[in-house]
Amino acid sequence: KRVLTVPETGLVVLVGVSGSGKSTFAARHFRPTQVISSDFCRGVVSDDTDDQGASADAFALLHHIVATRLRRGLLAVVDATNVQRAVRGQLLRIAKEHDVLSTAIVLDVPERLAQERNRARTDRDLPAHVVPRQRRDLRRDLRNLGKEGFRRVHVLRGEDEIDAAAVELER
Ligand code: CTP
Ligand code: MG
Repeated sequence: KRVLTVPETGLVVLVGVSGSGKSTFAARHFRPTQVISSDFCRGVVSDDTDDQGASADAFALLHHIVATRLRRGLLAVVDATNVQRAVRGQLLRIAKEHDVLSTAIVLDVPERLAQERNRARTDRDLPAHVVPRQRRDLRRDLRNLGKEGFRRVHVLRGEDEIDAAAVELER
């Protein structure tokens, strides 16, 4: 069993393509209130968790919730794909402003598995070209996540490593 250590008051950024299992992982390892998802925020501002046109407002809300939790000394786990460097950069900036450490947890699954899962989903209707693009973004940045400003980067490769992971909050 691999134990991922995460600062109790800080930012956790989940990183992975659609269908990599971020929301499943978040539900398993964190309390619901500790997790802020882009889906939830899209739903709040549009009544449709899949409305991509609501993204700007959804992310503004997500950032506001993250900042508020960090200011109050709470853990904030961001459940969104976070495969783009600029998107992670916005989150890292918020963490820095609140003087807390950031952790990245990368769920790196084979493209085939993500596509298979997405096809079976009823909560999402994802065009097939989306995952390959997300995967390209992720692979390009994977080795440099530490340099972006994450104190710790945990990379879980494949279903077995993801299943075997445990999360430990440290003060
Ligand atoms: N799933 C699964 N086994 C796992 C993890 C996920 O069967 N070990 C399934 C989930 O039940 C879900 C689908 O795969 O139907 C996608 O998982 P999810 O956690 O929702 O993936 P996310 O990474 O959150 O995808 P998105 O970015 O689209 O929200
Ligand atoms: Mg999800």
